[in-house]
Amino acid sequence: MQYTHHPGFVLWFTGLSGAGKTTISQALEAILRERGVRVERLDGDTVRQHLTKDLGFSKADRDTNIERVTFVAKLLSRNNVGVLAAFISPYRYMRDRVRTETTNFIEVYVDAPLETCIRRDVKGMYAQALAGKIENFTGINDPYEPPEKPDIHLRTDRETLEESVAKVLEYLEQRALIPVDEPSAR
Ligand code: ADX
Repeated sequence: MQYTHHPGFVLWFTGLSGAGKTTISQALEAILRERGVRVERLDGDTVRQHLTKDLGFSKADRDTNIERVTFVAKLLSRNNVGVLAAFISPYRYMRDRVRTETTNFIEVYVDAPLETCIRRDVKGMYAQALAGKIENFTGINDPYEPPEKPDIHLRTDRETLEESVAKVLEYLEQRALIPVDEPSAR
């Protein structure tokens, strides 16, 4: 498949555990690849098994986690790769730092009310956290600072996956970070 010409960017998905960061970024990855966009997906759940497997969930460790990922996102985005980064990244100042260090940073707030995430409890971790079995669990006994002015705001409790994905694609097209999809041209 032919790669298309496009600049690098960083789609930074932030939000509570279970809000939909991984699901949305995976769906986007498939569509962008299909369109010939060079992408790399970085996800807390997998990055923490490799690059940051020595880290836990204290504030200092979360900051280090984001710092290391920022370094990778910086190298990729400046070499015309589209990075899809899915991290809770609960601290506003750390997300602001990623913005200053990377090329075409786009903050995507994957927003679902805490009650919805608890109801979904995809990994069963909220139940454990609520039972006091997990320390520093974001939203339960650890803070989450929502973006004040996200570039893209997704409400996964009200939108379908397709709607959320379409919003992101439209944003990328409008900023000319990816080519406009013209099915007839393929
Ligand atoms: S971040 O805060 O440092 O950005 P990151 O996105 O990498 O977090 O990892 C979050 C994932 O780690 C969650 O999806 C969940 O599966 C797991 N996890 C384990 N312990 C915690 C915890 N105390 N708080 C939040 N997530 C946790």
